[in-house]
Amino acid sequence: KRVVLAFSGGLDTSVILKWLQQTYACEVVTFTADLGQGEELGPARAKAELMGVKPEHIFIDDLKEEFVKDYVFPMMRANALYEGLYLLGTSIARPLIAKRQIEIAKMVGADAVSHGATGKGNDQVRFELGYYGLNPDIKVIAPWREWDLTSRTRLIEFAEAHQIPVSKDKRGEAPFSTDANLLHTSSEGKVLEDPWQEVPDYVFSRTVNPEDAPDTPEYITVEFDAGDAVAVNGEALSPANLLAKLNDYGRTHGIGRLDLVENRFVGMKSRGMYETPGGTILHTAHRAIEQLTLDRGAAHLKDELAPRYAELVYNGFWFSPEREMLQAAIDHSQQQVSGTVRLKLYKGSAWVVGRKSPNSLYSEKVVTFEDDAGAYDQRDAEGFIKLNALRLRLLGRRDA
Ligand code: ARG
Ligand code: SIN
Repeated sequence: KRVVLAFSGGLDTSVILKWLQQTYACEVVTFTADLGQGEELGPARAKAELMGVKPEHIFIDDLKEEFVKDYVFPMMRANALYEGLYLLGTSIARPLIAKRQIEIAKMVGADAVSHGATGKGNDQVRFELGYYGLNPDIKVIAPWREWDLTSRTRLIEFAEAHQIPVSKDKRGEAPFSTDANLLHTSSEGKVLEDPWQEVPDYVFSRTVNPEDAPDTPEYITVEFDAGDAVAVNGEALSPANLLAKLNDYGRTHGIGRLDLVENRFVGMKSRGMYETPGGTILHTAHRAIEQLTLDRGAAHLKDELAPRYAELVYNGFWFSPEREMLQAAIDHSQQQVSGTVRLKLYKGSAWVVGRKSPNSLYSEKVVTFEDDAGAYDQRDAEGFIKLNALRLRLLGRRDA
């Protein structure tokens, strides 16, 4: 019996590793994904080895490029925002982790997979919908739903009893749960649980406070090709390097902070804090290039689809026919979404100050308030308005 555990190397998944070995008397295979969380992954290997995981059963994979290219970028093409605000930084990473876990399970002949998400949240759903979608017969072990370590205190006691190191911030006031990758960092729990309390400064980790950001604005350009960002300031970059670059700009200027009370799929509301520096710039820039290049009908339909798409990603239905259908429609709309956006970064904001595209539908000749040399006949508007007004007038007469 073998189980592949999604192992971050942190306290919770270390306890889970030990607990799985004890409770299921099984061989644990660890999988640690480098999604750009900005942590050394060496310690995860050392910890797994220390707990008796065989070296050939410790998987540490750099998935940064795949993450941005095949998950973040498709989602950015959709302009997906959950409940109008959340850029889905955690949600979008889970299907990739699940996919890789299932691949590893197949490679090592494991019949089960395990994760460290609690029984109260969204992540358990996302992981497991991913697992079942990719392997209908896989067994899932979700320790948080099974064990009797029902409080932080008991978890820490278990860790200490088994020589698992517990860092100071796990005992203090730091958020109980954080999740980070190239796209975002999220924090929930502890001090954040009272939605009336302002998020304390120490919770932020990857953006400067906008109040302390530079007093002079900085201009950057982001170039798009068929809906995807391909260059910053004229420098072509791979998807992960591009996002990392925008993260640097976002950090410096304090861009992409969000304090949100959201509806979890399981039914409860939760309050979280997010930092999505580069993703916020990217989202803003993508909308700007679409302003020039998308037809109104396509653009407005896309705006209707975006909340549906976001909800599917949030609820864990990445590997679903309906998400793929929406993706196909969205991707089709992006063929002409190419060009350059100029942004001004200043104290927490990314302002769009310019955009240009070889595929622009914007016609200065048509729109100008100066002499348009016959490009547009203002007299056409009269009939246009009259027919649109017809039913309003009929109503008006009846109800007068
Ligand atoms: N509420 C966010 C979401 O559902 C973030 C979840 C964060 N996960 C975590 N392990 N802290 O996408
Ligand atoms: C968790 O429950 O493990 C984190 C929060 C969430 O998934 O919503």
